[in-house]
Amino acid sequence: MKGIILHGGHGTRLRPLTYTSPKHLLHIANKPMSQYALEDLKNVGIHDIAIVVGDVYPEKVKEYYGNGKEFGVNITYIYQEKPKGISHAISLCKEFVGDDKFIVYLGDNVLRKSLTDYTKKFSSSGLDAMILLCEVDNPSKFGVAYIDKEDSMKIKSIIEKPKNPTSNLAVIGVYFLTPKIFDIIDDLKPSSRGELEITDALQLLMDKGNKITYDTVTGWWKDTGTPEDIIHANRLVLDSIGTDEQFLAEKDVSIKGNIIIGNNTDVSHGSSIIGPAIIGKNCKIGRNVRLGPYVSIGDNCTLENCNIENSIIMQNCKIDAKEVNLSSSIISHSSQIDGDAVSKKLQLLLGERTHLKL
Ligand code: G1P
Repeated sequence: MKGIILHGGHGTRLRPLTYTSPKHLLHIANKPMSQYALEDLKNVGIHDIAIVVGDVYPEKVKEYYGNGKEFGVNITYIYQEKPKGISHAISLCKEFVGDDKFIVYLGDNVLRKSLTDYTKKFSSSGLDAMILLCEVDNPSKFGVAYIDKEDSMKIKSIIEKPKNPTSNLAVIGVYFLTPKIFDIIDDLKPSSRGELEITDALQLLMDKGNKITYDTVTGWWKDTGTPEDIIHANRLVLDSIGTDEQFLAEKDVSIKGNIIIGNNTDVSHGSSIIGPAIIGKNCKIGRNVRLGPYVSIGDNCTLENCNIENSIIMQNCKIDAKEVNLSSSIISHSSQIDGDAVSKKLQLLLGERTHLKL
């Protein structure tokens, strides 16, 4: 089997974070979100992976993943000039896929459960496609599947973002496909948003009498379109971490809950960390710092005099602002916050290399 990770799109709801980076490279628990997709594919034995990059800094994606060797996979990059839809992106991968079955993973989807069982089921079947469904409260934001009332294993129809959905089963962004999909995509017309939709391709695949089934997702699934989604995904990932002891802490540091602290990170006395939290390597957590719960601090950060909860601070940041309270914030890499005390809680979204003086 082969894998495809979709890494295009403009991420407009995540600006200013996405002015300088594709959204899929934003960190969740100290890892770019698309790395979760790559690792899920690798963990089911898929080593040949195509990453479809778009027109938002594709070179940054190539710089991070390279040829894939460091991640234990072989990566082929495929360029999608304009965001013309998921089906369009898949159609660009025809040559890469050849005769193999394949999994398409949207690089902004994060999934709790591994793909092992689903992959076994699909690869040993004669199915033409398999989708994963998850019950959601807001189905009109997703592709939605309607299940046949008489035959609970049969999908009746799949509709992209229906206005008044009568099903709450969202089609998540992990699709198990065979090369049959390419001819189907050739017959698709753009939707009202001007895209070749994956849901239309799946519907047409069914209409033409092909075999398609579904499985349901247990555990959480997150589509990370907004800052709130990313912060929520960070919480979900941190909820499942264990502990790690590799750090240097002075005696009167208060640490509670599950915390991962990277090599060569120094936690000074008088600070407290409440898990779940992750702190990268080579960080300096100075005096009077209160972190957590649900905080991710990237590598090489220096923090002094600050309180941070429920937030993501990416690598190489420096925060030293007396008694600043950050909550539900995302600070992109290489940013700096300093200045004087601000008594109320701040909720910040800072693009990379920002200097904020309070
Ligand atoms: C896309 C698909 C949609 C699916 C969703 C999952 O939506 O079109 O069917 O439910 O991903 O994340 P988009 O993110 O393009 O709005």
